[in-house]
Amino acid sequence: MTQRVEIRRYTPDDLQQSYALVRDELARTDQVILQELQSHYPFVDRLAKYGFRLGGKRLRPALVLLSGKACGNLTEEHFALAAAVEMIHTATLIHDDVLDEATMRRHLATVNAQWDNEASVLLGDYLFARAVCLAGSLETNFACCAIGEAARVMCEGELRQVDSRGNYDLTEEEYVEIIADKTAALCACCCRLGSHYAGASEDLRESMGRYGRHLGIAFQITDDILDVLGDERTTGKSLGTDLVKQKPTLPLIRLLNRAGGGRRREILSLLSRSENHRREALRPWFEQEDAIAYSHERAEWHIHEAKEELQSAADSPARKALAMLADFVVNRKL
Ligand code: IPE
Ligand code: IPE
Ligand code: MG
Ligand code: MG
Repeated sequence: MTQRVEIRRYTPDDLQQSYALVRDELARTDQVILQELQSHYPFVDRLAKYGFRLGGKRLRPALVLLSGKACGNLTEEHFALAAAVEMIHTATLIHDDVLDEATMRRHLATVNAQWDNEASVLLGDYLFARAVCLAGSLETNFACCAIGEAARVMCEGELRQVDSRGNYDLTEEEYVEIIADKTAALCACCCRLGSHYAGASEDLRESMGRYGRHLGIAFQITDDILDVLGDERTTGKSLGTDLVKQKPTLPLIRLLNRAGGGRRREILSLLSRSENHRREALRPWFEQEDAIAYSHERAEWHIHEAKEELQSAADSPARKALAMLADFVVNRKL
């Protein structure tokens, strides 16, 4: 079966539209991040600010701020937490780039490419530590516990992913469990924190957490599609590393499930050949089979579920922005 996939592509403007309601708050969050990352050691200062230079999408701070607004009013705590989750996220990216041996991130050379793995490991730890200090400076330990828990789950997800390297028998269910841990746990945490500090009821906080979890799963499925078919000039990061690192992601799991017998063996043989050409060699297979369309459908299902959870919040511009953000996540090209 030959199936060409038409996925509606969103521009950065679509993202800006979702963020419009918290534009000033996001700018203030960036100020908090820059202030927090100051070090009187010039090398540490330069390194810590490097990862934030071209920004990234700032999805996690936006989730904290919009969830807060959707459930009540923003407080000083929201800004500290929006900054803390972005610092945690950036720390995981810096470590992830070591694991994936990636050379580009946020349109810049990765820390491991520009400096080395030693600097990356320590910088990631440094950002983690500073984020924990920031969350720990709040009145109660609620946020610190929530962030610590999310970080634990993320590490478990990343470790399970390392353990599943080259395991092309990984099931779709196992894959979803792994990405729910490595990516969606932090998104869920952001939404729970945002709603908690806006005074939401327990039920509403749970719904917002489930919104974040579904959104995070869809975000990672889309990311895994981009790793196969995306454009590095648009994403601003190294692509194809999932195939090089033999990560069984959903597009590949589906492709292998659909291609029986000899075709499966042919794909597995392509996966064991020269690392640098795997993406190019496999592209025709992905285009021929329904692997991308299927993965996109699964991501859309999670986005549908995420939007259902939003119904627990009262109708508001912030709730609409969260729904818009969910649509961006599943159609993004960056
Ligand atoms: C990349 O996250 C890592 C994944 C969870 C797929 P983002 O795509 O949000 O990275 P930035 O923050 O925009 O650089
Ligand atoms: C890593 O997943 C997600 C994290 C939680 C760090 P990826 O390896 O797919 O992220 P990218 O594609 O490098 O951003
Ligand atoms: Mg990576
Ligand atoms: Mg990826």
